[in-house]
Amino acid sequence: MVQTLDDLVARGVRGQRVFVRADLNVPTKDGQVGDDTRIRATLPTLQKLLSAGARVVLASHLGRPKGKVDAKYSLAPVAKRLAELLGKPVAFVAACIGPDADAAVAKLGDGEVLLLENLRFHAEEEKNEPGFAASLAKHAEIYVNDAFGTAHRAHASTAGMVPHAKRDAAGDLLRAELDHLRRVLDPARPFLCLLGGAKVSDKLAVLEAMVRRADVVCVGGAMAYTFLRAQGQPVGSSLVEAERIEDARRILAAAKESGHKLLLPVDHVVAQKLEAGAEAKVVRE
Ligand code: 3PG
Repeated sequence: MVQTLDDLVARGVRGQRVFVRADLNVPTKDGQVGDDTRIRATLPTLQKLLSAGARVVLASHLGRPKGKVDAKYSLAPVAKRLAELLGKPVAFVAACIGPDADAAVAKLGDGEVLLLENLRFHAEEEKNEPGFAASLAKHAEIYVNDAFGTAHRAHASTAGMVPHAKRDAAGDLLRAELDHLRRVLDPARPFLCLLGGAKVSDKLAVLEAMVRRADVVCVGGAMAYTFLRAQGQPVGSSLVEAERIEDARRILAAAKESGHKLLLPVDHVVAQKLEAGAEAKVVRE
């Protein structure tokens, strides 16, 4: 049973240090955040904790710096953008463990937030190294996971440090995503599933489950061309995963057998080159 943020806050968090693992993996360039959707998504959890008087130690990864400090992957621009969105100061420390990080955490007052530097500047994060997990855990007595995009990874900040916490809870974003997933397991009917993306291989298991479960599955994006090729249709030089054509045939057959519809695109944008501004037209089958 996952404890919710509301349960946690109801038991009182004023003056307590709460480690929030968020997924602030956003695009940054020249010290600016591009798309801030992921920062906005974590605001409800942060606002709830801050208005209840918690001392929030916020942590995330950004990109894949492979265990090395690389300014390109710094979370400093995220601290700046987060402060604008929260309408209050966000302290930032260029470390996530060690004396500088410890000192910055010690300075936090009630209702204040500190963002730590990129967890993946340490190879120990992805290795889920126990010593590193313990150093992160020293920052707080309470642990909140709101990093839905990273929750499937067993890293120090998502798994290793959790048993050290006195109390833990799922953040509001994580809980909302779990609720969506529960609805997929027991859906209202009619149930339509829309899937896209480039590669069939990443989504095979989901597709196989969905053709049996959903009333209609719509496959769009580049991966639709592997299915169209499996049906023997001409696809020009569209992206096709040749080694997945057999899988696509199996999925089409499974959909037919279960009496569920699998819909593929019937109109396509065609162009001589894949380039912005290239002359293009829409063709229908
Ligand atoms: C994502 O962008 O998918 C998440 O932040 C996870 O990132 P990762 O695939 O590098 O672990």
